[in-house]
Amino acid sequence: MAGRIPQHFIDSLINQVDIVDVIDARVPLKKKGHEYTACCPFHNEKTPSFTVSQQKQFYHCFGCGAHGTAIGFLMEYENMEFVDAIEQLAADHHIDVPREDSPHTQGPDNSGVYNMLELAAEQYQQALKQSQRAIDYLKKRGLSGEISKDYGIGYSPDSWDFILQQGQSQTDIKDLASGGMLIEKNAQAGSYYDRFRDRIMFPIRDRRGRTIGFGGRILDQGEPKYLNSPETPVFHKGKELYGLFEAKKSVRNLHTIVIVEGYMDVVALAQNGIRYAVATLGTATTADQISLILRSVKKLVFCYDGDRAGKKAAWKALENTLPLMRDGYEIRFLFLPDGEDPDTMVRQEGQQAFEQRLQNATPLSDFLINNLQQQTDMSSMDGRAHFAELAKPLLNKLPESIFKDLVNESVSKVIGLHNKRLVEAAPVSQAKAGNAAASKGRHMRITNVRLAIGLMLQQPALLKEAHLPDALRGSEIQGISTLFELYDMIKANPELSSVAILERWREHEMGAYLNKLLHWSIPDAENKATSLTMFQHASEKMLQALKNQRLEALLQQSQQSALNQTEMTELQQLMQRSSSNNQD
Ligand code: GTP
Ligand code: MN
Repeated sequence: MAGRIPQHFIDSLINQVDIVDVIDARVPLKKKGHEYTACCPFHNEKTPSFTVSQQKQFYHCFGCGAHGTAIGFLMEYENMEFVDAIEQLAADHHIDVPREDSPHTQGPDNSGVYNMLELAAEQYQQALKQSQRAIDYLKKRGLSGEISKDYGIGYSPDSWDFILQQGQSQTDIKDLASGGMLIEKNAQAGSYYDRFRDRIMFPIRDRRGRTIGFGGRILDQGEPKYLNSPETPVFHKGKELYGLFEAKKSVRNLHTIVIVEGYMDVVALAQNGIRYAVATLGTATTADQISLILRSVKKLVFCYDGDRAGKKAAWKALENTLPLMRDGYEIRFLFLPDGEDPDTMVRQEGQQAFEQRLQNATPLSDFLINNLQQQTDMSSMDGRAHFAELAKPLLNKLPESIFKDLVNESVSKVIGLHNKRLVEAAPVSQAKAGNAAASKGRHMRITNVRLAIGLMLQQPALLKEAHLPDALRGSEIQGISTLFELYDMIKANPELSSVAILERWREHEMGAYLNKLLHWSIPDAENKATSLTMFQHASEKMLQALKNQRLEALLQQSQQSALNQTEMTELQQLMQRSSSNNQD
C-alpha cells in the first residue's frame, strides 16, 4: 500500500487542471458564450444540455442533473476511484504523485527494483547493437531500428551472468532478484544466475513508462518460445498491458486500442503504422486490463485467431467486458483467418487493409448473440428457451444503459418475444434519480448562514479577509459548524479555489449541500466590496439572532427564578441593543 496523497498536492493539482481540457479530451466541447457545451455523456440526448464552466471549473447537465468537478467527471465518466482520478490527472500533466510517509500506509520501497530493471533494459539495448545475429533476426521479422528503439527492444546475450554482473552491490543483486531478473541456484542461497539468456527482450512498461518486467523470445527453435518475468512486487501480469505506454505516447488523441495476443503482433502492427495495439502478457484478458484500456479510449477491438482457441479467448474477454459496458463504448471482435496472426496479416496486406478489418470487426452485441445462437437449435421451442437461459445471466452483467436496452431488445427479437424484455429494466434509471435530486436543490430558502457559506465557497479569494465574530462559534444556529469549518479552512489556506474546497468535502455528508450553495446564484458576488458587505451583513444578523435567542432565554428564566447579577447585566445590555429582530 502506498501512503496517502498529501492534501496540498491535491489542492495544487486542482488549481493547475482546467476542467475544459479534461472533459474536451473525452467529450468534445463547443464554446457557447462563456460556457462550453456538449451532448451529455451521462444520459442520452440529441440537443446539448451539458455545460462546462471554465470560470467555475464545474460541469452541469440541465437534462439529468449530473454535475461536478474535473475529478468528479473522471470518476463518473471513467469509472475511477478518487485516487485513480488524481493519478490520471497528474499523469496527464506529467506530474508525479507524492505520497505521505506513514509507518502504517507506506509500502515497501521498490525504487531499487525499478532502477535495476531500467538498467537491465538499457544493457539489453546496448547488447542488441553488438549482436549481428539478433539484429538479423529482427530484420527478418521486418522491424526497423526506429520501432525497436521506440519499444526499447534489446537482446540478452548467451551468458549466465550478463545481468548479474550489472549489480554493483549486494543491494543491487537483491533488487535484480526481486525484479525477476535472476534465478537462485539450487541449494545455494544468495547465489544467482541470469533468467534471460540468448533472447530478444521486450521491456514491459507501466502507465508511467517505468520498466517493470520483460518478455523474452528465443531466436531459433526452442522451448519455451517466450519467457516472461515472473510476478514480482512491481509486475502483475493480469494488470498490465504490453504496449499501452508506447501507444499513449506516440498517438495524440488516442481513441482506439486493439488488443492482440503477442509482443510481436504489437510491434509488427506499430511497424506498419498501427501504433495503438497492446498485448496481454501470455494470459487471458482480465477485467482489470479491459478497464485500464477503457479509461483511455472508448473504442476497443479484441483481435484473435479465428480458431477455436481464439473464439474461446474472445468469449472470456466478452464476459469480462460486460460489467464495464457503458453507453458510448464501442467494443468489437476481430477474428483473423486460420493460421494468421496480426503480425503475419499486417505484413502481408498492409496498414490500410488491416484497418479495414478493424473497422468491420464484429460488434460485441452481434458476437454475443451469434455465439449463443450457435450453441442452440433456434428452430425449436426448447432451443429458444435454452438460448434465453444462456442470455439472461449475460444481460444481467450489463449495467443499466441504453446499450443494455438495445441488446435486450435484440435478444428478445431473436427468441420471438416481441413486446417483452427478457430482463426487466431497473425501475428508476440513475439519470432520473439524479434529476429529482437536482431539482430539489433549486428551491432553497435563503438564510444568513447559507448566504455566508455560499459567498465563501464561491469567492474564497475575495473573502479571505472576511471576519466572523467568535461569539458565533459553537452557537446553536443551524449550519454554523459548517460555516466555521469552511471559514477556518480558508483562513488556513487562503489560496484554495472553490473546486479545491469542494473536493475536500467529497466524502463528507455535507458535500452535496455545499455543492448546491456553490451553484446558487448570488447577485454581484464577484464584486469584492459587495461580497464583503453581504458577508458582513449576514454575520451581523446571525449575531443579532444569537442575541435575541439569549435575550428570550434570560427573560424566560427570570420568570421562573431571580437572575443573578451577571445575568441581570447581560439582560440589560441585550435589551438596549435589541432593535432589529432578524432571525436566521
Ligand atoms: P512469434 O512466434 O514470435 O510470432 O510470436 P507470437 O506472438 O505469434 O506467439 P504466439 O502466438 O505463439 O504467442 C502469443 C503470446 O503468448 C506471446 O507473445 C507470449 O506472450 C505468449 N507465449 C507464447 N509462447 C509462450 C511460451 O512458450 N511461454 C510463455 N510463458 N508464453 C508464451
Ligand atoms: Mn506470431
